[in-house]
Amino acid sequence: MAAGKGTRLKSKRPKVLHEVGGRALLLHVIAAARTLVRAEDIYCIVGHEAERVRAAVASTGVNFVLQEAQLGTGHAMQVLKAYLQLPGNRAPKHLLVLSGDVPLIRPETLTSLCELHLRERAAMTILTAIPPDPTGYGRIVRSSTQPLEVTAIVEQKALTPAHGGAPEINSGIYCFETEALFSKLSQLSTHNAHGEFYLTDVAAMLVADRRRVIALKADSVDEVLGANTIAEMMHLDQAMRAANTRRLMAEGVTIFRPDTCVIDAEVTVGPDTVIEPYVQLLGATCIGRDCRIRSYSVIQNSTLADSVTVRNGCILDGAQVGDGAILGPYAHLRPDSNIGADAHVGNFCETKKVTLGRGSKANHLTYLGDAIIGAGTNIGAGVITCNYDGVHKHTTTIGNGVFVGSDSTLVAPITIGDGAYVGAGSCITHPVPADALALGRAQQTTKEGWATRRRVTRGGPKKP
Ligand code: UD1
Ligand code: MG
Repeated sequence: MAAGKGTRLKSKRPKVLHEVGGRALLLHVIAAARTLVRAEDIYCIVGHEAERVRAAVASTGVNFVLQEAQLGTGHAMQVLKAYLQLPGNRAPKHLLVLSGDVPLIRPETLTSLCELHLRERAAMTILTAIPPDPTGYGRIVRSSTQPLEVTAIVEQKALTPAHGGAPEINSGIYCFETEALFSKLSQLSTHNAHGEFYLTDVAAMLVADRRRVIALKADSVDEVLGANTIAEMMHLDQAMRAANTRRLMAEGVTIFRPDTCVIDAEVTVGPDTVIEPYVQLLGATCIGRDCRIRSYSVIQNSTLADSVTVRNGCILDGAQVGDGAILGPYAHLRPDSNIGADAHVGNFCETKKVTLGRGSKANHLTYLGDAIIGAGTNIGAGVITCNYDGVHKHTTTIGNGVFVGSDSTLVAPITIGDGAYVGAGSCITHPVPADALALGRAQQTTKEGWATRRRVTRGGPKKP
């Protein structure tokens, strides 16, 4: 169920596209469902901003069912029923219903829920938990005589003192015998506090028919919590990231002050790598073994090989970094930066769409964009590739073993051959052949005694 608007978030973005652990809620839920069934057996009910939600998860290959007006979770099931009864479609015997806003659900728990449901031949099996604060959730009313049986689900607004606080919450995750569910949907009404068709009302209806409605308490509370408000979303985000750091530490990664690090679900890190406090590892980032990621670095969608050092305050986005490379402090590697093994990109350097060969160094205050640079080349402090003419981007090609003196500007398109030297302060506009020296600066003029003469005629700073 992913059709709801998410009114409580007060956001333009549909609720199920809000992210925890760097991934949309709905993608987490689909990933959990995919561990049990094939994508073609998953029906995603979309409604609010349907096209946007569809586009965001289309790559998973699930089916979409449109709930044009969102009249409640019961209505979502009515729409699904109508869809599955269309000619050519076939309803499965049992249905696992997941809520698009309950993202931390673990596959193991879903498996246990389905197994219990089938073993007990229940009409409805509800996943529940007892959280520290059950406010806002539908509550489970248990049978006083039988341990598994539930007699009703009561929404928060309909709770009365007779329910005695009812600490056990409905997770919004259920297994149904499809026929039993479908037989009750037409009897749902909107006579309730929200004026919606509640799926939860089906529980008491089935009990009235002497069908079995049972509950399974989840092992951990966080996995059944919903993300209805930003605060709840951030709680789940923290829980998920804490789980990620625990996973990485179990795999041999040292993470100092893990509570300060932000690590997305997909990130992988090799053993013996050390992550200092206040590091962010985001998106599809892969880090090898024996690396050190120093504080305040943010690494996104990047791949680092082994023994890479990322000094403090680096920003990497879409970068590939070879074995033993050293980055930073304060280096900014933008998309398509390919940094070779043992290369250095140092203080306040920016790279974009660059290949920097093995062992090459750009250590200070440099911009390298649209450049192909060979191995063993030294890029001096303050070197700039002038890649943009105001309309187009052009390439700078620098060979192996080149020395580019400090404060040089290389006006692309330009080529500098293997082993060439560029004198400091040059503005290079013509190709430099291999092993040549290029100087592109005004000849220095030195006037002996000039300052002494000036002091006599015009004053000026005295020598100490
Ligand atoms: C629901 C349950 C509540 C449970 C809680 C667990 C009902 C009536 N209440 O409340 O017992 O404790 O989940 O998180 O079911 N949706 C649709 N179409 C709609 C309405 C909602 O697809 O017309 C989707 C939403 O996008 C969401 C899910 O269903 O992913 C749950 O809806 P939501 O409005 O969040 O229900 P809760 O108030 O959280
Ligand atoms: Mg909810």
